[in-house]
Amino acid sequence: MTLAAEVDSLLETFGVARERYRRGSRAVRSPLTGEVVANVQDANAADADRAIEQAKDAFLAWRLTPPPRRGELVRMLGEELRAAKPALGRLVTIEAGKILSEGQGEVQEMLDICDFALGLSRQLYGLIIASERPNHRMMEQWHPLGPVAVITSFNFPVAVWSWNAALALVCGCPVIWKPSQKTPLTALAVQALYERAVARFGDAPDGLSALLIGGPEIGELLVDDVRLPLVSATGSTAMGRKIGPRLARRFARALLELGGNNASIVCPSADLDLALRAIAFAAIGTAGQRCTSLRRLIVHRSIYDGLIAKLKQVYASVRIGNPLLQPDVLVGPLIDSAAFHKMEAALAEARAVGGGVFGGGRYELAQHPEALYARPALVELPRQIGPALRETFAPILYVMPYSEFDDALAMHNAVPYGLSSSIFTADLREAEMFLSAAGSDCGIANVNMGPSGAEIGGAFGGEKETGGGREAGSDSWKAYMRRLTSAINYGRELPLAQGVRFDID
Ligand code: UN1
Repeated sequence: MTLAAEVDSLLETFGVARERYRRGSRAVRSPLTGEVVANVQDANAADADRAIEQAKDAFLAWRLTPPPRRGELVRMLGEELRAAKPALGRLVTIEAGKILSEGQGEVQEMLDICDFALGLSRQLYGLIIASERPNHRMMEQWHPLGPVAVITSFNFPVAVWSWNAALALVCGCPVIWKPSQKTPLTALAVQALYERAVARFGDAPDGLSALLIGGPEIGELLVDDVRLPLVSATGSTAMGRKIGPRLARRFARALLELGGNNASIVCPSADLDLALRAIAFAAIGTAGQRCTSLRRLIVHRSIYDGLIAKLKQVYASVRIGNPLLQPDVLVGPLIDSAAFHKMEAALAEARAVGGGVFGGGRYELAQHPEALYARPALVELPRQIGPALRETFAPILYVMPYSEFDDALAMHNAVPYGLSSSIFTADLREAEMFLSAAGSDCGIANVNMGPSGAEIGGAFGGEKETGGGREAGSDSWKAYMRRLTSAINYGRELPLAQGVRFDID
């Protein structure tokens, strides 16, 4: 069966109408083979306007639906996703190029957030606050914010939508989704599964969840539309730099998940076998195309040579290939040729600044001449310079030695991003120092594991040029709600706060 035929049969099982992916003008390529597997139709400005107007109307009804009832819709969505997990995970592999286990893992992440959001639908708690005035009660309530735009990237084509959508829906907010133009098929599949859930649910307002396929121009329409009080966007720091000020101009909320240049520090006491496995997954896994991928390794001089030698063995032997044909591969393709050229450019730059490059380059697959597979690269640098300071969305790991812990920490924090981080150590002081206020400056910091592969239960996101947003677990739901502080006077007097007197006759 050709890949296009497999896409046909998968989309059919989800109930996606054929004309949605066969008659359009935007070609969709699978990075596994480089072949065109579908042609989707882009939305236009009128479609966007209609979706936003519908979402605005849907909000009026949905905000009054009791949150536990809203949770039922998310439960049903979770049920649809659970039943579809094998097929949807496979489509993630076909469209984004992840290995099969990671494609399944991405759908698992969707199930997890649906479960989380369902529980949350009975826990949108506010505070009761002690009032300084007699016979007064003060409290906080959380009310739905309004329609939310969700802009997602190719590397987690469906999970990131679900982090936003599951929470937004239980919080009472309609969702308008603009997926990456590179991965519209998984979005069509998820939208179809959502429609199935809605059909079973019964009385969800029309347009509660809409999908707009298209390029940056559709994203821009969403960013600039005053009817959307929150825009949650995942992508590069360059993208965030464009949309952040535009959202600020109209005082919209921005939930930004941007670039990362995540590092791990490997200390002398580290369990090196464990570290090796964790580093391999974090740096090579997903072909280095996670926001949380490990990009910098800061290794104590005393263990440097031994660890690097072992890492080189891993890099030289890791299985690369098309996961559909060889289910045991660990590294799939890069998303497209532009990604490969960026990787090559970063490696050339690394060589120019004196880096020792091990690996890298194209990994030719005779049967897929149009696909872009790359050998993961390990780059030894004497200091943290050049391309090691920025994010390249590819499997490149820069390795630098350190002597003093404080220097390692300083090096760790000396990049403009602040998403995820980790330390390998058996020394309690080093571990605690890393997690302290003077330690990692990221949104996520792990001990004895890599920086990638977070669970949904924690808040996900980071600081500095990563954008500051938090999605998924903990109290990230508050981004989709507005806080109402209210005070009630149940007495017969009118005591004023701060003891102010204002007596009229
Ligand atoms: C991303 O790369 O955009 O923590 C998200 C992880 C995944 C999510 C990554 N759970 O690596």
